[in-house]
Amino acid sequence: MVDISEIRTLVNTYEDRQTALLPVLHYIQDKEGCIPTGMTILLADLFNITQAELKGVLSFYHDFKDQPPTGRVFRMCRAEACQARGSEALAAQAQEIAKGTDTAVEAVYCLGLCASGPAADIDGKPVARLTAEKIAQLILQEPAS
Ligand code: FES
Repeated sequence: MVDISEIRTLVNTYEDRQTALLPVLHYIQDKEGCIPTGMTILLADLFNITQAELKGVLSFYHDFKDQPPTGRVFRMCRAEACQARGSEALAAQAQEIAKGTDTAVEAVYCLGLCASGPAADIDGKPVARLTAEKIAQLILQEPAS
């Protein structure tokens, strides 16, 4: 569990406390795999915002989850450059490939790999120049430990 002192230390590296909110949320998400609902009161208090405001931020950014993933996560880029290279069809194929596995297929909107699309990430690792065959390999292979 992320310790509040770690969060306070991170917040103190920012001149303006409010600008630390997203980095803090990413920090917690990276460590916990989610933003535990038990932390929302503490975070709202730390940032001097209401819980409703915090929930607004959390629901706006789909990357923030309230539960850690139960399996692998394959996120297919659905932004314009990847769409132009067929990501919509590949996402549908990924959904089919993932049936019966513990891999969740989600959408993401630009991973910064536009020139190498269609792109995705699997368990946070970026992958590019995807084809249906590559996607099948990624989803069906055992996760690296
Ligand atoms: S549009 Fe897909 S990585 Fe940028």
